[in-house]
Amino acid sequence: MNKFYLTTAIDYVNGKPHIGHAYEKILCDVICRHFSQRIDDVYFLTGTDEHGIKIQKTADSREITPQQLCDENSSSFQQTWADLGIEYSDFIRTTQERHKKTVQKIFKKLVENGDIYKHSYKGLYCSGCESFLNARDLTADGLCPDHLKKPEEVFEENYFFKLTKYKDAIIKHIKDNPKFLQPDFKVNEVIKQLENIEDISVSRNKNSVSWGIPVPDDEEQVIYVWIDALSNYITALGYDTENPSDKFKKYWPANVQVIGKDILKFHAIYWSAILMSLGVELPQSICAHGWITIDETKMSKSLGNVIAPADILKAFELQEPDALRYYMVTSASFGRDGNYSDEDFKEKVNADLANNIGNLLNRSLNMLVKYFDGEIKSEFISNDDCILNAGNEAIINVQKLFDGYQIAEAANVIVEFANTVNKYVADNAPWTLAKEGKMKECGIVLYNVLEAMRKIAVMLYPYCPNISGKIFKQLSLEKSIKYSQIEQNKLQAGKITEKEKISPVFPRMDSEFATDKKKVK
Ligand code: MSP
Repeated sequence: MNKFYLTTAIDYVNGKPHIGHAYEKILCDVICRHFSQRIDDVYFLTGTDEHGIKIQKTADSREITPQQLCDENSSSFQQTWADLGIEYSDFIRTTQERHKKTVQKIFKKLVENGDIYKHSYKGLYCSGCESFLNARDLTADGLCPDHLKKPEEVFEENYFFKLTKYKDAIIKHIKDNPKFLQPDFKVNEVIKQLENIEDISVSRNKNSVSWGIPVPDDEEQVIYVWIDALSNYITALGYDTENPSDKFKKYWPANVQVIGKDILKFHAIYWSAILMSLGVELPQSICAHGWITIDETKMSKSLGNVIAPADILKAFELQEPDALRYYMVTSASFGRDGNYSDEDFKEKVNADLANNIGNLLNRSLNMLVKYFDGEIKSEFISNDDCILNAGNEAIINVQKLFDGYQIAEAANVIVEFANTVNKYVADNAPWTLAKEGKMKECGIVLYNVLEAMRKIAVMLYPYCPNISGKIFKQLSLEKSIKYSQIEQNKLQAGKITEKEKISPVFPRMDSEFATDKKKVK
């Protein structure tokens, strides 16, 4: 692999970011940081989805223009990602000129290819999904199953896209490429949807929705928000129907497009068909993650249980986002639903980060100071086979798990390795060795533990970049996180620390989280 291009879903800006949005972006940041430890060219795209009826209506209700609403909330998303340590390569906003002009070209190309036709249509539109729904998809009370709102009846003459033309080709692509849709338990769901697929409306009349990109050569219509939004994955790279940019040629097809399970249909089916029509290669993989609930309940404004990531950091007085990042991505296996609860958060990060990893480093460094004035003598540099093998195995397994986007499982491997090292310390009791005057043996144990900590810092980096950085610092090592250099950068003989330099890399979290959850507007 010589490049790695990852995209996230782009968030609607009718509200502020909550921890469901944050879950996805943290997951993607962790994946990108991990791959940046293995290859040089990682490109990470995220952004905001700014058109459509939902945004128009929210702006109207607040008596501001849609653009003002977009500017305000897009900034909020960007600020939140900065607070969470999310380091993307590009942030695309669908109201940017670079995007709008290309979306119009894409629409034109679909017309030229004979894939668009005009058609009068009567349907049920859910503004929450920004999508037409079939009567058979509704709940027994006639509500959208995802948003529990009654869809609006719409009667319009719109442009339609010949989705049915691509049905067989998409089914074939899914069957021929087992990695295309992940996790694989999602495949049947998509195939079933494909079997019932119909052509889709790809424009709305300006009288119903004015906040959108105009259909080229038809002032009465705006382009359907999902066609607009999905195109961001290539418009951001400078795709052009006639003359694609070097960046597009370099990064497309995406290695992975990460999205929530609720929008898999749009990506696996609509997006694949658009790309096929444009003659553009399909992404290598579309990965659908599960949803985050709060205290086992779906987040919703009406329940008032929507939590903003910043409120969690504030309530627990966390200066750095590492603990929240770690907790969020380890709360569920990829594709499965996860849950956030204050108690669980505190318990998990105290157990793994403060006790298992943090305490191990702290105790070992303190012993090194107490017995050896903070110095690793050259005679201590002798590997314990068990620890060496366990560390090397963990390094291989973490990479293998990341290859399959098994992020929570990879974190377990790190924790397991730290458990093994803790057990090694308990079994070899360096404090007893010191008491018995077996100073060389004691020093060897401490060297092995600290060398293992270095490996832990490398593997932990994507989840907890700040904690990882502190571990390197306390070991007096240059931060070196590349997997290819893990052998060369071993801990060397010499004085590495003194009493004043040692502090917990992650102090236990004890503060009580205000039970009164902050409401996201
Ligand atoms: N704008 C569309 C995506 C267009 S992509 C071309 C959209 N926006 S969204 O704001 O509703 O959701 C953005 C992402 O956040 C989606 O992948 C969605 O699944 C995810 N999540 C929203 N709420 C979530 C949870 N409660 N839990 C986990 N992810 C959630 O859909």
